[in-house]
Amino acid sequence: MTARAFNVDRVRADFPILKTKMNGKPLVYLDNAATSQKPYSVIDAISNYYRTYNANIHRGIYKIAEEATVAYTDSKIKLEKFINANSMQEIVYTKNATDAINLVSLSWGGANVGRGDHILVSSMEHHSNLVPWMVLAKKKGAVLDYIALDKDNARLSTKSLDEQLEKRPKIVAVTHASNVLGTINDVKSITRKAHGAGAMVIVDGAQSAPHMKVDVRDIDCDFFAMSAHKMLGPMGIGALYAKKGILDSMEPLITGGDMIRSVTHNSYSWNDLPWKFEAGTSDVAGAVGFGAAIDYLNAVGMDKVRKHEKEITKYALKRMNETRNVRTFGLDMKGLEDKCGIIAFSLKGVHPHDVSQILDGEGIAIRAGQHCAMPLVTEILNENALSRISFYLYNKESEVDKVIDAIDMVKKKFRIE
Ligand SMILES: Cc1ncc(COP(=O)(O)O)c(C=O)c1O
Repeated sequence: MTARAFNVDRVRADFPILKTKMNGKPLVYLDNAATSQKPYSVIDAISNYYRTYNANIHRGIYKIAEEATVAYTDSKIKLEKFINANSMQEIVYTKNATDAINLVSLSWGGANVGRGDHILVSSMEHHSNLVPWMVLAKKKGAVLDYIALDKDNARLSTKSLDEQLEKRPKIVAVTHASNVLGTINDVKSITRKAHGAGAMVIVDGAQSAPHMKVDVRDIDCDFFAMSAHKMLGPMGIGALYAKKGILDSMEPLITGGDMIRSVTHNSYSWNDLPWKFEAGTSDVAGAVGFGAAIDYLNAVGMDKVRKHEKEITKYALKRMNETRNVRTFGLDMKGLEDKCGIIAFSLKGVHPHDVSQILDGEGIAIRAGQHCAMPLVTEILNENALSRISFYLYNKESEVDKVIDAIDMVKKKFRIE
């Protein structure tokens, strides 16, 4: 794809799975917050790697090994530029966002958090940016505090943030975009305040990097975590961005081959960044696919991706709000500027699993459950479970119409108005 006006039908033609059927109906894929679909260019890049230059990196002095090494490094350079890091030394490839956050909690947290220290998270975190901090707090005898939500349960409360920062936490762990509420947090302002209180900041970018322009230097966060599979890339690879000085000061969690500069019988020294944190054989095919995904998103343009998703979210909110007995959660139409393409909803009197199952029969893939955010869903929103639709650049308004028609079917089945 070359840069041109956004055309959703042209985008859709690049995704083979969108031509398939589910339960005999054309697939309507609306579970993009869980994982995204892949364009031909990503699938082909991975297949081409295995077909034409599969070799281990950083080792072989032969052509295809050099090609593989260059492709792996190029992928990192693409990601460095995509999120505006200073250099690819600040990009560590991990398995996924969860793995990236665990690297920070275990390595940085293990060395820098002690008894009685405070760790600040928010009440809208995915378990991946919550449980690692709970575990660290328990292990170290530290205190875990929460930034509360505002009275509408839609945004983080600025008052609560300011109050919690008075405890001078060691680190603030906050999501850029909530996978349940869709709220896009002002992580730049949170980072400025947190730094003012002497805290480090880790931003969970799993739901932001795929959908909007991210500039880690502008945010000024210390760490940023992401997953390739949510941004058109393959499963099994993600990334941790961290400021170079911080990575320099951190100890690797996993040791062995490739992360080492020299070893004698009695000594060792670590390799340069970022390799120090990438022990053993890397997911080269994954990196190649990740690079191709970034190329694709760049060719479309992240501004256009965001604009398209904002429009479809607006349309979906309107249609859902017109549908009796459907309740949406998080920011509404007025808060659209700060909402990504995620809408969690309930249908009065019907369990979300039933909603999801009936939609499945219509070829519509949505998510139902607690969305790996149990404290938010069960303790704050007071729901056992929620249904969720989540959009990406290839979704169309006509797919929203299909969801509304299917919800009407559910209502008829359950004899609801
Ligand atoms: C906000 C958020 N953070 C972290 C994750 C974890 O991503 P992964 O499972 O790819 O590590 C997710 C996944 O849904 C998410 O939505």
